Amino acid sequence: MRVRRFGASIIGLVCASIFWLLANVIVSQLGEWLSISMNKYVEQIGSLWLMFLLMGLTIFIISRSARHEQLKIWNQMSDTIKRIAAGDFSAKIQSDSKDMKNSRHPVTKLVNQINHLAVELNEMEKIKQEFISNVSHEFQTPLTSLKGFAHLLKNPDISEENRIYYLSIIEAETMRLSKMSENLLKLTALEQQVEPIEKARFSLDKQLRRIILLCEPHWTEKNIEIDLDTSPVNIDGDEGLLNQVWTNIIHNAIKFTKEGGVIAVQVKQAPAHVIVEIKDDGIGMTEDQVQRVFERFYKADKSRNAGGSGLGLSIVQKIIELHEGQVEVESDYGKGTLFRVKLPKVD
Ligand SMILES: Nc1ncnc2c1ncn2[C@@H]1O[C@H](COP(=O)(O)OP(=O)(O)O)[C@@H](O)[C@H]1O
Ligand SMILES: [Mg+2]
Repeated sequence: MRVRRFGASIIGLVCASIFWLLANVIVSQLGEWLSISMNKYVEQIGSLWLMFLLMGLTIFIISRSARHEQLKIWNQMSDTIKRIAAGDFSAKIQSDSKDMKNSRHPVTKLVNQINHLAVELNEMEKIKQEFISNVSHEFQTPLTSLKGFAHLLKNPDISEENRIYYLSIIEAETMRLSKMSENLLKLTALEQQVEPIEKARFSLDKQLRRIILLCEPHWTEKNIEIDLDTSPVNIDGDEGLLNQVWTNIIHNAIKFTKEGGVIAVQVKQAPAHVIVEIKDDGIGMTEDQVQRVFERFYKADKSRNAGGSGLGLSIVQKIIELHEGQVEVESDYGKGTLFRVKLPKVD
């Protein structure tokens, strides 16, 4: 900063000297042309006045053009902000002004921040649009089937057997719709949660045991064996939310494991964490699928997953995040999957 100020003073001095010389030349030339003999004192005073006049004129011209340049940027900024406010996030301030070449200039910083804001808002808008289109798509499928089967039921000649079959599909699709909207509401509520969750101490091993028992009809139906390996362990957390985590992961494990498979639930202790591992020997996932499992609405293999909405693991991830924990997945396509949840250990 000091070096710049020193440089500016030198330039100012050089300019003043040039103007002084110029004013001197003009005044002496004027004296010659008009054949006036001026004494030294008058010549000096005249030159001084002329020097100030020339300097003033130059500063006036330069500042006018600089103001014009600045006004152009301010107008561009105000137009861009108006466009952004109106929802046009492709708006961008493009200026070739000299000030803009200096990245430390306050105007450049402001322009860059406005451009960055537009890019961020554009990204958010894209995510929102994608979300809306996913929601509509997910709701459309069961609605189409409801419409189709309701139409078939209007036929008075259908057999009793078919009638029951169509009604059972309608019932299942209605349940699917209801589950999906419930999950969507849950995820939205979790994402809007700004305050830390209320934690209480409870027994994790008892919670896991209870959930496994509650899922029993599902795993016994597929002849699946569930092994639980845990010693008594307490954690601090929201019991209801963590209930949802284990239920979602265990339901997935049952859903994606073949008849006669094995699911192992193991609780381990690390220096700072309690680790819960849920491992199945089911269909597994490819590397690409593993990368995307936590995305909203993502279903790795739609043909093998009737009934899911792809929201379960997004909810899991959000809940674990609210508990300051981590969730990881390891999977081997065709061999099985392991979900690892790390939660902070109690003091
Ligand atoms: N244990 C698992 N084994 C294989 N694939 C799984 C497993 N858990 C989750 N997935 C994959 O991740 C996707 C997303 O899971 P999730 O968010 O729970 O949605 P949903 O169960 O509703 O399909 C599933 O559709 C499935 O393809
Ligand atoms: Mg699921």
